[in-house]
Amino acid sequence: MCGIVGYIGKRDAYPIIINGLKRLEYRGYDSAGVALYDGTDIQLAKTKGKVADLEALADRKIKKNGTLGIGHTRWATHGVPNDVNSHPHYSQSGDLVIIHNGIIENYASIKKELIKRGYTFTSDTDTEVLVNLIEDVKKNEKVKLGKAVQIALNQVVGAYAIALFDRNKPDEIVVAKLGSPLAIGIGEDEFFVASDASPFIEFTNNAIYLKDEEMAIIRRGRDVKVRKIKDDSLVAPYIHELQLNLEQIEKGGFDHFMLKEIYEQPSVIKDTYRGRLLANKGIIKLGGLEDYIEKFTNADRIIIVACGTSWHAGLVAEYIFEDLARIPVEVEYASEFRYRNPIITEKDVVIAISQSGETADTLAAIKLAKEKGAFVYGICNVVGSTISRETHSGTYTHAGPEIGVASTKAFTTQITVLTMIALKLAKVKGTISHSDYMLHLRELETIPAKVEEALQSDAHIKVIAEEFKNARNFLYLGRGYNFPVALEGALKLKEISYIHAEGYPAAEMKHGPIALIDEEMPVVVIAVNSNHYEKVVSNIQEIKSRAGRIIAVVTEGDTLVKEMADYIMEVPHTPESLTPLVTTIPLQLLSYHIAVMLNRNVDQPRNLAKSVTVE
Ligand code: AGP
Ligand code: GLU
Repeated sequence: MCGIVGYIGKRDAYPIIINGLKRLEYRGYDSAGVALYDGTDIQLAKTKGKVADLEALADRKIKKNGTLGIGHTRWATHGVPNDVNSHPHYSQSGDLVIIHNGIIENYASIKKELIKRGYTFTSDTDTEVLVNLIEDVKKNEKVKLGKAVQIALNQVVGAYAIALFDRNKPDEIVVAKLGSPLAIGIGEDEFFVASDASPFIEFTNNAIYLKDEEMAIIRRGRDVKVRKIKDDSLVAPYIHELQLNLEQIEKGGFDHFMLKEIYEQPSVIKDTYRGRLLANKGIIKLGGLEDYIEKFTNADRIIIVACGTSWHAGLVAEYIFEDLARIPVEVEYASEFRYRNPIITEKDVVIAISQSGETADTLAAIKLAKEKGAFVYGICNVVGSTISRETHSGTYTHAGPEIGVASTKAFTTQITVLTMIALKLAKVKGTISHSDYMLHLRELETIPAKVEEALQSDAHIKVIAEEFKNARNFLYLGRGYNFPVALEGALKLKEISYIHAEGYPAAEMKHGPIALIDEEMPVVVIAVNSNHYEKVVSNIQEIKSRAGRIIAVVTEGDTLVKEMADYIMEVPHTPESLTPLVTTIPLQLLSYHIAVMLNRNVDQPRNLAKSVTVE
């Protein structure tokens, strides 16, 4: 949810930490803080607000030298966003200082016990309880910081990515991970700690991703010792050589990360099928799937668990898998699935879809499915993310870092992976003719160019946005494969422009929502060439006869809907099962331009975080 950054080495820690926090701010941001060891003492500054506010405070308040430090951007779970609840937090003695991402679920009982032992607390956070538990263990067991952390964490229930140090031993940082991400950058005589690699990628591309229930003691100029929290046993960590580069992180000339990521879709869809879709040979190669084909072809059903936009991708997959591979599919909100005691058997395959690979509800759904014996397959965008490591196997989307909180390229690359899986299974099961299979492979290869073409309407869509930016409500309608796209278009508008929008199956209009129609309610209708075209046309007529205003997504060259709609957004023709990959593009652009015109914080909309790692 939030961002953590740490540094120990030969350089000044402060600039590395502050720049790192700026790169991680999208992960969660209601307050920020930094703690440095300046050679004799701890310098600490923290505040509610943005990293920029922290910089201003640090300039006024602290000496910024020192080669050891930790920094944090917070998305509050315990204790309102304010200066006192911001991180880092001191232990009672002032010797230890900690930053934390996640939730300590049993913090209240621990706090009660610590109060009995004479501890007092300045904040309302669970994090301050944790650092005092560690201090209490360190004091009573007379052990070093690393051992105290290991003992303390065995008493803790919840999720954490923590980094802490002791002012009396300023040559090491101790980190630990369960449920929230934590990467360790291995530099030349220097080490970095962060929620993902973006804060240290310009210094090193060698990284260790701690696994759940692992901790590490990072010693200046020496080494990183990774241990299991449960039994303190040593772990030989895998060092990833990352392909990320700084340019991927920066905005690349666009005003917002979201727009950059919308425009990256042609290339990242290609990256996602690169080496996997060999259309001319009629082959789909998915490393994570090859050994588990029978799990899918023999499955009673596929259950898809996800949240938000990833859930919409799952809905698209339901149409693709049932249509092409004839495998029953159920799509579940992970947050509902995990609590409703679902019936799951070994004959079920669960697909978990998550851009961040850290969404708490999706992670919990995976754990439940595994406990009940299902085979769990992950579709994630972040290498080394928790969900990618919790599932039995999986396929990464290759969308690159998605910084904008509103998910765009993750959605289209998820659908790309799901389409390849469905086609591969359909081929194995013989539920698709060879010619239809080959047609789909070739058409999938043309999608990047078709997305590129759909992006050409950007300027025209900006004109439409100008016309409707002050509407207070929107309706989005679609049928078949494009019903989930209508939901996704509505979510995009809601989450970045703060305008209320609802997605509906177009046929549902007559069951109630049509009462909402008047000239104040723009209706976005996905009316591309498909089996439902005539039905959608009659839905448009129903709306027009009630003075509704129509913005229609149509297949280029359409004349009929063009006559009826107030505005149209054209997309290239594609086979029906691939239309979501192109029809979503104008809806992304429409929501983006309206939000910009309303001066919204497009990349970091209010109340939202990029990765919801708490419940
Ligand atoms: C989508 O634009 C939102 N940012 C949100 O709904 C997101 O899709 C959801 O939180 C799931 O995130 P995940 O894909 O990282 O699991
Ligand atoms: N639970 C901690 C708090 O509320 C950390 C939240 C976060 O991940 O930022 O301060």
